[in-house]
Formats: sequence, C-alpha cells, structure tokens
Amino acid sequence: RYKKRQVACRGDIDRLNNPFLEIYESLIPAEEEKAKQKQLLTLLEKIVCKEWPDARLCLYGSCGNSFGFSKSDIDVCLTIGDEDINKSEVLLKLADMLQLDNLQNVQALTRARVPIVKLMDPSTGISCDICINNVLAVVNTKLLRDYAEIDLRLRQLAFIVKHWAKTRGVNETYQGTLSSYAYVLMCIHFLQQRRPAILPCLQEMKTTYSVTVDNVECSYFDQVESLIGFGSRNRESIAQLVWAFFSYWAYFHNYANDVISVRTGTILSKRTKDWTKRIGNDRHLICIEDPFEISHDLGRVVDKSSIRVLREEFERAAEIMQDDPNPCVKLFEPY
Ligand code: CTP
Ligand code: MG
Repeated sequence: RYKKRQVACRGDIDRLNNPFLEIYESLIPAEEEKAKQKQLLTLLEKIVCKEWPDARLCLYGSCGNSFGFSKSDIDVCLTIGDEDINKSEVLLKLADMLQLDNLQNVQALTRARVPIVKLMDPSTGISCDICINNVLAVVNTKLLRDYAEIDLRLRQLAFIVKHWAKTRGVNETYQGTLSSYAYVLMCIHFLQQRRPAILPCLQEMKTTYSVTVDNVECSYFDQVESLIGFGSRNRESIAQLVWAFFSYWAYFHNYANDVISVRTGTILSKRTKDWTKRIGNDRHLICIEDPFEISHDLGRVVDKSSIRVLREEFERAAEIMQDDPNPCVKLFEPY
C-alpha cells in the first residue's frame, strides 16, 4: 500500500531555505512573552509558598524545552517533597488559593490521566496547567532543551515539523496521532543519524548530570556548551533536512521491525524490546522509545487507522518536498 521510492535529486533545494527560516522565525516567542511567562511563574511561586514553603515550581513541556511556539500555554510542575501526599487534595487546595488570588478560569481536573489545575492569568493573558510531582517530565524537558543548545538546526527542524503536524491535524494523541514530545524525539534521532552526525547521543557520553526519579535513573552528559559546533562538519541546510526527514518517515523507516531510540542514538529492533505483539492497547505500529522510561513507546497511541493517516501524511509531505515549486504553501495547508 505504501510507496517505496528513491528520492530524486532536487537541484533547487537550497532556494527553499529562506521560506522555511521565515516560518521558523515567525513561530518563535518574543522575549517579552518569555518575560511574561516568568512573571506568571513568580506570582504562582508566591501563592504556593504560603501553603507549602518547601515546594518548588518548574516549567516543563514546550515552554521549558525551547520548542514552544509563541502564544502557547505554559505547563508547570509543582514538586512537593513528601511522597505520600494526596494529589487530589493538594490540587483542590491549590485551586482554592488561586481563585482567592484572582486568577481566572480555575479548574481542578483531579481525574485526568495527569491530574492538573488549569488557570488563566488576567494580567499576562497566559493560560497555565499545573501538575504535581511529575519530575520525569521536568527531566525530559531538560534533555530536549540541552539537545537544542547543540545545533540550531534541531530547533528549526522541530518547529517546522510541529507546525506541519498541527496544521495537518496529526498532533492529536486522543485521535491516535503523535504528541509534540514524540515529534521532537523523532527530530533528535534523525539528526543523530545523519552522516556526519549533527547531534551526538548525550546518554551514551560521560555522565555529568544524574537524578533518580520513580526508580528510573536519568543520567547523561549535560555540559552542552562544550558541544556547540559538534555538527558543523555536516553542512546540510534546513530545507534539505526537512526533505530528508519526511522522506525517511515516508519511504525508508522500517515500520515492521524498527524502534527509534534517542537514548542509544541508534535504531533498535522491536524484538529486542519485546514490542512484537499487541499487549492491551500497545500495538507498536510506529515505535519511539522514551529516553528515560524505556518501556514507554510514544507511538502507543497510534492505532490501525491512525497509522494510515500518519503514513499518508508523511508521504504527502515527502512528495511536496520533492516536486512542488512552492512547498511551503502546500505543506502547511490546513487539512
Ligand atoms: N510528556 C511525557 N510523555 C509523553 C508526553 C509528554 O513525558 N508521552 C511530557 C514531556 O515532558 C513534554 C510535556 O509532557 O515536554 C508536554 O508534552 P507535549 O504537550 O506533547 O509537548 P509540548 O512540548 O508541550 O508541545 P506543544 O507545543 O504542542 O504544547
Ligand atoms: Mg504543551
């Protein structure tokens, strides 16, 4: 059903760099927006400390990992040292306090998969979700941010891929397509695989950062300032990389056997992960290993019908990159 095809040479590919860079620039949040996010975080810290003096607030998700678009909501994690807290009670208490401090649309969602409090800050206009003790998310946010420091092309590629996924409707986990987190990992892995490599594999290098969270040891090399320029022997432009990324997922990825793994910087086989058959709802139709929770397949949300949607979208994007004189228009056409 899916096409196998050799990618033809496109002589004018570098002509497409500027349009892609313009899209990237238009999506980056302005400094003043970052300042407003900090302002909101400081306000929330003040409120939280009244009740829980030892608690801390950390940004996670796109506002903390440097892959956030302008005007996006922020995700905040409240860490409370005590392991035995009742999350629902804390969230309800927190919601009360936020309401008293005049935050708007305050809502505690205690039954969600990740229980949160939602709110909107009228003075900055920013909406925010607060979760509790989701430390793994804070750590994987740092990993993504650290990778982004090494080579600017990661941030550019991931912005374009996320923008494509959002406009094409394939960034909806509840409909069986992939999370933004999964797309960024796909970009990191792809850049680890280029020859010469554009990104190293931080988890295979000397450990300079290590934390143990929920019995998962998270360690990697985080002194990334020393790795700036790592990918400079590879001169591929952003347009070439976008094209190669979509071609990889359209024509070259082996969906039957392969697992992409940022943790090892390689492709693993489904056999070695024991991801060969469906268990419960995990069908493993596209396999993306979480860098720390290595039993998590971020493709687990994908089902028999959404894998078709995804693969057809990858093919569509690859074809546009191959043939279209103005790919930036069609690539981001709303579905
Ligand atoms: N996360 C995770 N495991 C998942 C999905 C998400 O640990 N299966 C955590 C990650 O820390 C991720 C954060 O939740 O950074 C937010 O995920 P997501 O909404 O997919 O990514 P964002 O970067 O916030 O993207 P967007 O700009 O679309 O909001
Ligand atoms: Mg988010």
